[in-house]
Amino acid sequence: MPAFPVLVQPAGLRFDAEAGTPVLLAAQAAGIKLPSSCRNGTCRACMCLMLEGSVAYGIEWPGLSRDEKEEGWILPCVAHATSALEIQAPLAAPIEAALATPAVARPLTGARR
Ligand code: FES
Repeated sequence: MPAFPVLVQPAGLRFDAEAGTPVLLAAQAAGIKLPSSCRNGTCRACMCLMLEGSVAYGIEWPGLSRDEKEEGWILPCVAHATSALEIQAPLAAPIEAALATPAVARPLTGARR
């Protein structure tokens, strides 16, 4: 399967996401923690802005509105890269650093950042 490079801003973290693998899992396999909770496309804890690229979803209707999709918001827990990606995920961090940092409280729904 092809893999697509993913650049995570603003930290400048990079990893490859294999086609068919959720971006969140590809990041985790590369030692990068992205915010998440349900991991099934409903809670929106992982919601982040896609600055470049394209994704497809492994579920029929991820928890995003049509407007949010058009604005570039994605749910990495269920989104598969279909091209090189650049995403904005301010809370992304290498897993070792994420373990050393206290969790940040975030709303489970309606969170855009
Ligand atoms: S982790 Fe819940 S929607 Fe992605």
